[in-house]
This record gives sequence, structure tokens and C-alpha cells, in this order.
Amino acid sequence: MKIFLNITIFIFLSLFLLTSYPRCHASQDELAKNELLRDGNRNTLVSSRNIFEMGFFGMKNQNGNQRYLGIWYYMDPDTIVWVANRDNPVSSSSCILDIEEDGNMVVKDESGIYFTTNLPSSPESRSLKLSDSGNLILENESGFSVWSSFSYPTDTFLPGMHMETTTKLTSWKTRYNPATGTFVFQKDQVFGYNNYTIFDGKKLHWKSGFGLESNINPTKMPITALHLLSRSNSSKTPLTYSRLVMNSSGEIQLYYWDLTIRKWVLNWSEPKDYCAKFNACGPNSSCNISKPVGTGSLCSCLPGFELVSDITSSEQACKRTATICSGNDTGFLSMEIMKIDVTFQTFLESRSEPECKDKCLGLDCCQAYSYNGVGNQELVLAGVPGGKQGCWIWSSGSQLVDVQIGEGVSGHIISIRNPVSLGKYFFQYF
Ligand SMILES: *[C@@H]1O[C@H](CO)[C@@H](O)[C@H](O)[C@H]1NC(C)=O
Ligand SMILES: *[C@@H]1O[C@H](CO)[C@@H](O)[C@H](O)[C@H]1NC(C)=O
Ligand SMILES: *[C@@H]1O[C@H](CO)[C@@H](O)[C@H](O)[C@H]1NC(C)=O
Ligand SMILES: *[C@@H]1O[C@H](CO)[C@@H](O)[C@H](O)[C@H]1NC(C)=O
Ligand SMILES: *[C@@H]1O[C@H](CO)[C@@H](O)[C@H](O)[C@H]1NC(C)=O
Ligand SMILES: *[C@@H]1O[C@H](CO)[C@@H](O)[C@H](O)[C@H]1NC(C)=O
Ligand SMILES: *[C@@H]1O[C@H](CO)[C@@H](O)[C@H](O)[C@H]1NC(C)=O
Ligand SMILES: *[C@@H]1O[C@H](CO)[C@@H](O)[C@H](O)[C@H]1NC(C)=O
Repeated sequence: MKIFLNITIFIFLSLFLLTSYPRCHASQDELAKNELLRDGNRNTLVSSRNIFEMGFFGMKNQNGNQRYLGIWYYMDPDTIVWVANRDNPVSSSSCILDIEEDGNMVVKDESGIYFTTNLPSSPESRSLKLSDSGNLILENESGFSVWSSFSYPTDTFLPGMHMETTTKLTSWKTRYNPATGTFVFQKDQVFGYNNYTIFDGKKLHWKSGFGLESNINPTKMPITALHLLSRSNSSKTPLTYSRLVMNSSGEIQLYYWDLTIRKWVLNWSEPKDYCAKFNACGPNSSCNISKPVGTGSLCSCLPGFELVSDITSSEQACKRTATICSGNDTGFLSMEIMKIDVTFQTFLESRSEPECKDKCLGLDCCQAYSYNGVGNQELVLAGVPGGKQGCWIWSSGSQLVDVQIGEGVSGHIISIRNPVSLGKYFFQYF
């Protein structure tokens, strides 16, 4: 039975190879309905101005013979910008790409299908085209796009792509494995504006600061990245070689190709250090990036908190050392911060620091307050509450998260409620 099957496959393959061989392709940017692209012999599509190339590739550092269909730069084949079958590698070397009778582009070999555009069946005659922007387009007879790779990015955003609310850049699993990894870069799903986030699975790994307001969160998106992300489908041909990559270790990177040295140059990357990660040290603590490398942890509990072990989870966390909001012993311990998360905090208009403090004390067991003396007209116009000069309040039950301290920074002060009797606070790193 097995022999019989093998013979059948052999005959089938021989016929297949014989009949399709003469129609194989070499270096052009289009693939017609009755043509196919075969793995091996640098049988690829190359965009008309020799900018991008599409074909099968394997990763040198992977075990076994795993083949992927992908798009890379013609000038730099090691930089892969799109992968069709990232989670479905072909392990034979007999894989092909073609356009099926039903109008779908598929990657397949004798044992199955590894990628399909998955469109409803259509009798129209379609062709595939690799454009100079790196977009692989499945076109109908009148040249209309019915599917394009730009709508399904892998880990890379290229000039000309459209950043929609739901567009995601998903990291590779490792540097050498294009399978779906855990890091996802996308627009902030809660607020929009210029805000972007990186998630590590379900956990927030990084988020950009307020579009324009740098005195509460300095991790702004740079103009260069915003420009690339907003240029949209308007540019048919890229002005520069640039790309934004969500890399496998969790950093979003913006690269430019330097024509003189013929290398990629990193222009921007986040999170740029340990403290730039969202809430790196956990709630009720702060991260000090000024601490020299090798001097132990960068994390310490906030004033009035100390590290205690949780009996149930066996994890350590910073908890208050004293009870607040009972009795008359009401004071605040203040510290200068670089950033703090205010996503769920109350913002009240306020003209002075004492007024802000009074507003905090007027609430039932207010945990902390932070007065923002510098308004930001641009943010006010954009309708962002924190743009006005005023007062952030951490009300009862709210936590202080994503706190970063450092040397010679913004001058932004947070005042944390604590009994006066607690006295001066000394940072203790854990
Ligand atoms: C191609 O697609 C466009 C847009 O959907 C449609 O108007 C046109 O009729 C299609 N052409 C053919 C030949 O099917
Ligand atoms: C950015 O996100 C914050 C919360 O994380 C939100 O309050 C703000 O409105 C967003 N947009 C801008 C432009 O700051
Ligand atoms: C870009 O293309 C998307 C669909 O692919 C469309 O929704 C959007 O309006 C286009 N944007 C511009 C500026 O043309
Ligand atoms: C990801 O980007 C960061 C910052 O540029 C870099 O240090 C790191 O090596 C990169 N990781 C991978 C797997 O490329
Ligand atoms: C990034 O690119 C912009 C525009 O070319 C340039 O002004 C800026 O200095 C670059 N930044 C870095 C860190 O290379
Ligand atoms: C942060 O670390 C630096 C370097 O060790 C130190 O000088 C500074 O006092 C620290 N800041 C705080 C608030 O502990
Ligand atoms: C932060 O401190 C508050 C007050 O002690 C406590 O209720 C909360 O559980 C702490 N957060 C964590 C994650 O331990
Ligand atoms: C709090 O009240 C007690 C008793 O009424 C008094 O002895 C103490 O001085 C008060 N403390 C403060 C900080 O006002």
C-alpha cells in the first residue's frame, strides 16, 4: 500500500514537474495565473526597480530544512520584511507558489497547503505582482488589488503601508525563527491619538508617552517614526529605505539604509533601557536608571512602602509601612520623578501646588497627588485633559505604577501620602 502510494506520488510529481517546468520564472515582477514559482535556483520575483525580491528562503540557524515564502530587500537578502507561512514552514524542498484555479495564491507541496490568501473562489484570471514598495499584490484582470501583503504585515512596517487601528506588527519568535512571537506593536487600543503600545502577550511591555506632553512621560514617539507610520498608502515609491521592526526581544526599531556605507542604521528604538519598560519595577516602586551598571537592582519601593513577601503568591511586593487616612497624622513625602502612569488617575484643574494638595485632602483617603504647573496648549486643543495646568490625584484604592526617577530631570514632583511621623525617606534598592 505504502509503495503503491509512493509510486503514485512519484508519477504525479514527474508529470507535474514536466508539465510545469517550461513556465518557470526568472527575475520578473509578475506571475500570471498559469505560472508558478518554485523553491530553489533563485527562482524569484523582483520588483521593477530591483528594490524588493520575493521567493523561498530558509534560516541558516534553524534545525532541519524549513522553507518559507517571503519578501526581502534585493540589495540585502538577509533582511526579510514579510513572511507568508511563518507558522507553517515547508519541510520539503519541492514547494511552489502559484495561483490556483479558484483565484487564490497558495504555497504548497505534494503533501499539503502551507499558505493561502483564502479568498472566496472566483473564476477571474488573477496575477501576482511585487511592487517597488515591497507590497505583494494579487490583481484581477483589470489590475485591481483583491489581496495585498501590506494588509497582513509580519513584524515590519514599510513606507506606504497603512497603520489602521487594528494593524499589528508581531515579532518573530527568535532572531532566527519567523514563527509568531509574543511581542505586538500597535496603536493604543484605548486612547488613540499618537499613542502606541508594545504588548508581551497580555502584558503591557511599553507605551509611548503623551503625544506632546513630555513632563509626565518622556518616551515620546519621534517625528521620524510618526512620519513613517502616517505617510500611508500615498507614496507609491519609497523616498527612503526605512523600516520599523518589532523585534524578537521586544524592542521596536526604526532603521534607515545608509547609501554610503551600504548598511542599515538604527535611528530609534524603544524600550531603550530597563526603566523604559512599562512598570519595570512593579506597582508601588520606582526605577532608577542613573544607577551604574553592576551596582545591583534599579528598583526601590516608593516613600512609605517596603518590600514584603506575599504569603499566597510567594512573590515580593512593595506595601505601605503605615496606615494612612486615620487619625490626624497627615503628611506627604515628595520625590522628583521622570515618568509615572496617569491612565486611570483623576485630573482636576488647579492653579497652584497648595490648591492641588487641598483637593487631594478633600477626597476620601487620597493616596497621592502631583501638580503639573506647565500647561500644554497643543494638548488642550487636542482635547487631552492632562494638557491643562492642574492636578493629578491618586484616589483611594488606586496604585502608583510605572514610576521612574533619575538625575536632573523634569522637575516633576509626586507627593505620596504618609504620616508625618514617618520622617525622612531613604531609598532602599531591592
Ligand atoms: C476587478 O475588480 C474591480 C473592483 O472590485 C471590479 O470593478 C472589476 O470589475 C474587476 N475586474 C474583473 C475583470 O473582474
Ligand atoms: C495617550 O494615552 C494616554 C493614557 O495612556 C491618554 O490619556 C492620552 O489621551 C493619549 N493621547 C495623547 C495624545 O496623549
Ligand atoms: C489606505 O488604504 C486603506 C485600505 O487599504 C484605506 O482604508 C485608506 O483610506 C487609505 N488611505 C489613504 C490615505 O489613501
Ligand atoms: C532588538 O532591538 C534592540 C534595540 O535596538 C537590540 O539591542 C536587540 O539586540 C534586538 N534584538 C534582536 C533579536 O534583534
Ligand atoms: C533619526 O533621523 C532623523 C531624520 O533623518 C535625524 O534628524 C535624527 O538625528 C536621527 N536620530 C538618530 C538617533 O540617529
Ligand atoms: C539614583 O541613582 C543614582 C546613582 O546611584 C543616585 O546618585 C541617586 O541618588 C539615585 N536616585 C534616587 C532618587 O535614589
Ligand atoms: C501597593 O500598595 C498598596 C497599599 O499598601 C497595596 O494595597 C497594594 O496591594 C500594593 N500593590 C501590590 C502589587 O502589591
Ligand atoms: C494628633 O492628635 C493627638 C491627640 O489628639 C495629639 O497629641 C497630636 O499632637 C496630634 N498630632 C498632630 C500631628 O497634629
